[in-house]
Amino acid sequence: MIGTTLRHSKFLIAKRPILSPSTLSPISSNLFQLSSSGTTTNSPPAQQAAFQVLHQQRQFSIKPTLPQCAPTAPLFKLPPAIVEQIKTDLASVDFDSNGKIDADELRALLKRHNTKFTDDEIVELSELFYASSGARSVPMDEFLAALDQAASSESKEGNALGLNKGFKTHPLGIGTCASEYMYAKTHGKYTEEELDVKLTHIEPKDWLDRAAFSSVKAVRFIFDQATGWNRGQITQDKILNRAIYLETIAAIPGMVAAIIRHFRSLRNMTRDGGMLNMFLEEANNERMHLLTFIRMKDPGYAFRAAVIGGQFGFGSTFLVLYMISPAFCHRFVGYVEEEACHTYTKIIDAIENAPEGSDLARWQTEEAPKIAKGYWHLGEHGSVLDLMRAVRADEAEHRDVNHAVSGVGYDTVNPLYDPREKMDGMLKRYVQDMMERSTEKSKPTTSSA
Ligand SMILES: [Fe+2]
Ligand SMILES: [Fe+2]
Repeated sequence: MIGTTLRHSKFLIAKRPILSPSTLSPISSNLFQLSSSGTTTNSPPAQQAAFQVLHQQRQFSIKPTLPQCAPTAPLFKLPPAIVEQIKTDLASVDFDSNGKIDADELRALLKRHNTKFTDDEIVELSELFYASSGARSVPMDEFLAALDQAASSESKEGNALGLNKGFKTHPLGIGTCASEYMYAKTHGKYTEEELDVKLTHIEPKDWLDRAAFSSVKAVRFIFDQATGWNRGQITQDKILNRAIYLETIAAIPGMVAAIIRHFRSLRNMTRDGGMLNMFLEEANNERMHLLTFIRMKDPGYAFRAAVIGGQFGFGSTFLVLYMISPAFCHRFVGYVEEEACHTYTKIIDAIENAPEGSDLARWQTEEAPKIAKGYWHLGEHGSVLDLMRAVRADEAEHRDVNHAVSGVGYDTVNPLYDPREKMDGMLKRYVQDMMERSTEKSKPTTSSA
């Protein structure tokens, strides 16, 4: 999910030009030569003076009251022309003229770059900025330095500053408080690429993984035999029986994980780091699968009794196992979700290739239940086939998330939703857009004959 996590962070940052003395102003060039010739940082008077002049050059002309940078302020790695354009861009959204960027001004800034940010992302990022900075406005020179640092990192979005361990603070003042209560996952905006789920598999690495993998295979074999899943044709009834039953089970692990982490946070009076929210969201997502399928078939009493038995048996076992080994449980869920991806792929193939006029072929165009159209944004005429593809994308996300967090200890910021990395990603995308705009501007205009 989240994935947001996994699936919301895909962009490339343009390679920044390599700086050379010739690309810098005369004073910058002197500095470049000083630093690259191995001069020590004991600040000889000439170097100090050069830093001060450089610093003065980089002050925003619009705000004489900006806080002073330390004399050791780093050289910007962005090209000077881009730095100037960014200053102008930042100044254009400084509505209260205080030389700082607050959350509302950030929202306005990102709106100016709405080819790089969706409306949802703009809202999420400005909220995250407000929460993570403790409602603090960030001086423009700090903001610019953070842009420079994030954009010059060689890594992709996320982890640009190597802050993913513990609860450290981002140099921009972005902390991790927001991870305790914010977890933004929007549904229904899967792209075609995201809906095209690949059937991946994580090889077991140790005995715990092998135990989890074997358990899942054994449970699947028994369940398939008991329900006759692989015998005969796939029918609407078989699909709905299987989906409804398994979704009542699938919604358990996320809730158990969230409850245990919640109680641990209360008991130890410590932060959780944000995984609790993610698992709650996973549990709710699975529950939405159930609430959707239940609109398509109403199970009888025997079925409902089996659900109660399954909930008691699996729920209590999983609770105990999670208290003993969260790593095992997340790996187990990761393998369960691998199987879920296989199952939904089989269902989707059966619908797509169903003979014309058959019950399954009807699902190619039959409208999905209203609750599903709303939850996954399937559109007014979203079909059951569209629904199945969205559900499979959810399962793929659960698969990747659970594999990713297996073995991630407590007291760690959610590696899939770290506010600091979200901010770094935003800064990079912003710089990328500024660089692309600059390139566009510098292209010679061709007049048509
Ligand atoms: Fe599910
Ligand atoms: Fe699932």
